[in-house]
Amino acid sequence: MKAKVTAHSRYVISDIDNRLYGSFLEHLGRAVYTGIYEPDHPTADEAGMRRDVIDLVRELDTPICRYPGGNFVSAYNWEDGIGPKDQRPTRLDLAWRTAESNQVGIHEFADWAEKANTEMMLAINLGSRGLDEARAFVEYVNHPGGTEWSDLRKANGRADPWGVKLWCLGNEMDGPWQVGHKSAAEYGHLANETAKALRGFDKSLELVVCGSSHSNMPTYPQWESTVLQATYDQVDYISLHMYFDNYEKNTAEYLALPEKLDRYIGTVSGVIDYVKSRSRSKRDVKISFDEWNVWYHERKQDAARMAEWDWPHAPRLLEDIYNFEDVLQVGCILNTFIRRSDVVRIACIAQLVNVIAPIMTEPGGAVWRQTIYYPFKFASTMGRGTALQLDVDCPTYDADIAPNVKYLDIAGVHDGDAGTLTFFAVNKSGSEVMDVDLSLERFGTAKSVEHTLIRHDDLEAKNTKDNPNAVTPEVGNGARISEGGLTLNLPPYSYSVVRVQL
Ligand code: AHR
Repeated sequence: MKAKVTAHSRYVISDIDNRLYGSFLEHLGRAVYTGIYEPDHPTADEAGMRRDVIDLVRELDTPICRYPGGNFVSAYNWEDGIGPKDQRPTRLDLAWRTAESNQVGIHEFADWAEKANTEMMLAINLGSRGLDEARAFVEYVNHPGGTEWSDLRKANGRADPWGVKLWCLGNEMDGPWQVGHKSAAEYGHLANETAKALRGFDKSLELVVCGSSHSNMPTYPQWESTVLQATYDQVDYISLHMYFDNYEKNTAEYLALPEKLDRYIGTVSGVIDYVKSRSRSKRDVKISFDEWNVWYHERKQDAARMAEWDWPHAPRLLEDIYNFEDVLQVGCILNTFIRRSDVVRIACIAQLVNVIAPIMTEPGGAVWRQTIYYPFKFASTMGRGTALQLDVDCPTYDADIAPNVKYLDIAGVHDGDAGTLTFFAVNKSGSEVMDVDLSLERFGTAKSVEHTLIRHDDLEAKNTKDNPNAVTPEVGNGARISEGGLTLNLPPYSYSVVRVQL
């Protein structure tokens, strides 16, 4: 199969906000307890945080981490997680039917985030609570001192404010499953009033209002229109979520799903423009895609187990074990975000550790990288700079979800400072090699090229505790400098990173 791709130095989409490679940690299952926090673990530091996990998070170089939920946040009292640990209450977590010990709260998470080299993106409870708790929380986290909340933070051991900029106004408030679910009009009003109050404290906060939980929601996209009309001049981002599944075990359909993601982003981008015009506003609201990932391997089993259990603390939940096919999917999702980086400024892989996550741990034992760790790491570490508007000509196929799905999924990023061009490419054909003629126009001469390849004969191959390196990247030999650019040779069902030094 042959493809022709053209990259031109002047055909650019946007600078990429590094926060496109954000992540997410929720008090859910073993994400926090025995995920990042396990005081008895052999690698635990003085704060009880697993150093082996911190090392892998640092390797991912994720610039932000959203916390503490997710559905969990909608019935969470942030005050339960401050003060002496032995006096913190255990509460029922209504979202996941578990017990929450509150041994990790804002102080512990903030310390961990610093060690993991990531900034906090904090979510406020607008489900069971409202404006008053939100303003108290922001004051506790960000005010220097001299008030009850800020002095309490100091008394609890943190002298300086954390200065968190990015705040989510609730989570998935369109979802009937959410504690404190609201109609678009009710939520829009509450979000606007909360945003106004928080801006009263600090105009420079970046605020994220809830959009749809996914594009199959019956309220989508009217939800976005109503909520944005109520909040447009107070918020900076609208949050979208989407999870991907392959229950049908149909790889072609599965790998066509990013078309649906692309359409979702395009539609919400149109709604933003519509509301902006209607509001006669000069403000630009962008998209924070703050939950995305593959989620289906354990989903049905988890729902059945949850229905029966008796409020366990940190049970195994949403522990999807990813396979090689998911590497291709995650590569295509990240490519979609890069191609839409003019409107999607923030995105968070959901989640980071143990819960539908690139990093897995065993209590008291090992940590390992899931298959999807690698495409995320490559995009996060090498996908920074300017997204290129590539011209791609290649064979296509018709899927149920969309016609004319390109067999070659490719995104390109130019880092002018480093003098590099990086291409992330997925060959969606399971039977044919993709021969790509990639012309580089007005970039100067390519001095060298490196090819990193992930492929496996078995789409179902997984990295597990006992076999953590079944699917790993290798040095590829499919990229060559040619006259005017590159030639690429991409094996069937493969994920590639091609990096050019200019
Ligand atoms: O990430 C798992 C859950 O998915 C989150 O708690 C929720 O926001 C979404 O439905």
